[in-house]
Amino acid sequence: MAQTDTSDRGAVLVTGGAGYIGSHTAKALAERGWRPVVFDNLSSGRKDMVRWGDLVVGDVRDREALRAAMTEHQVKGVIHFAGLIEVGRSVSWPDLFYDHNVTGTAAVLAAMNACGVPRLVFSSSAAVYGDVQSAVSGAAIPEDAVKGPASPYGETKLVGEWMIQANGRAFGLEAVALRYFNAAGADASGLLGEGHEPETHLIPLAIEAALGVRKELTVFGQDFDTPDGSCIRDYIHVTDLARAHVAALEGPMAAGEFLPMNVGTGRGHSVLEVLGAVDAAIGQATPYRIGDRRAGDPASLVADAGRIRQRLGWMPEHSDLGRIVASALAWRRSAMFKPAIAG
Ligand SMILES: NC(=O)c1ccc[n+]([C@@H]2O[C@H](COP(=O)([O-])OP(=O)(O)OC[C@H]3O[C@@H](n4cnc5c(N)ncnc54)[C@H](O)[C@@H]3O)[C@@H](O)[C@H]2O)c1
Repeated sequence: MAQTDTSDRGAVLVTGGAGYIGSHTAKALAERGWRPVVFDNLSSGRKDMVRWGDLVVGDVRDREALRAAMTEHQVKGVIHFAGLIEVGRSVSWPDLFYDHNVTGTAAVLAAMNACGVPRLVFSSSAAVYGDVQSAVSGAAIPEDAVKGPASPYGETKLVGEWMIQANGRAFGLEAVALRYFNAAGADASGLLGEGHEPETHLIPLAIEAALGVRKELTVFGQDFDTPDGSCIRDYIHVTDLARAHVAALEGPMAAGEFLPMNVGTGRGHSVLEVLGAVDAAIGQATPYRIGDRRAGDPASLVADAGRIRQRLGWMPEHSDLGRIVASALAWRRSAMFKPAIAG
């Protein structure tokens, strides 16, 4: 177990901490003197990504196991990442997604309440917004935009937020829901990075197409109302995202407060722009073809990130597109890379 700070501010339970964003956050916690305790069923996470704290192998739907871990480690807060993440799969298996994501969050809340743990940071998503008007017009999306999830995955995140808010009111929980836009990139150490299976995220897919691991990349639609016709998304470096979780854990809050916050840069990049950045990083053109639009894919999803800046003083520091792509490429070439196997 590598620890980067010898001070001990206390233990933080990191559910899903063996996964992509959770493992980066465990490192960021350790750097601030927290003791991460990863709670993960290893269904898609990797044991060798748990380097900055203890690992408890358990399922987040098992409230007794959660309670035992919280008690044994005397945790002071919880960061809840664990869950299923593929939007497309959620359309085919909504029962499974509701079970892991909603039942799992209910169990986390029950265990926290039983153990008197005061602070929760929840992995929410821009998927709670769905195809809102601002996503059509290209304007940045504020937290109070109308919610209209376009998939069961997005629904489970919105239901999770509602449950957390209701529990906050009832039990005085301090809770932050971080609505991530597109997480990307990898830790500078080369020890951590993205390896979903199936991989559905643009940057790792484009890199694999450019390296010849995949035949080509499919660009879903080139007739959107955007300058080059491809979709625009807001890419946030996973190291910045990890820092946002630590800031949310440490920031001032009132008992019972529920604070939803977007985490993005406020700047969008089109799919073709991302391909250009991958071409530049690798030094050759990425093979791609234009496919049909995917159902429910908004033209533009860009965060209004004003609230997190004002409330937590958080700003992206690593999220320049070229830097994101360079770090993702270094990870893809590293000996540590291997895709996780989805459970
Ligand atoms: N990657 C993104 O761009 C993105 C965007 C928005 C929101 N999110 C959310 O962030 C969180 C983390 O995403 P990620 O990309 O790191 O995914 P990931 O698949 O790499 O990590 C998820 C982790 O949760 C674990 N897990 C799954 N079900 C579990 C269960 N029932 N009990 C215990 N552990 C379980 C897995 O083993 C894995 O380690 C998820 O909640 C996801 O919905 C991710």
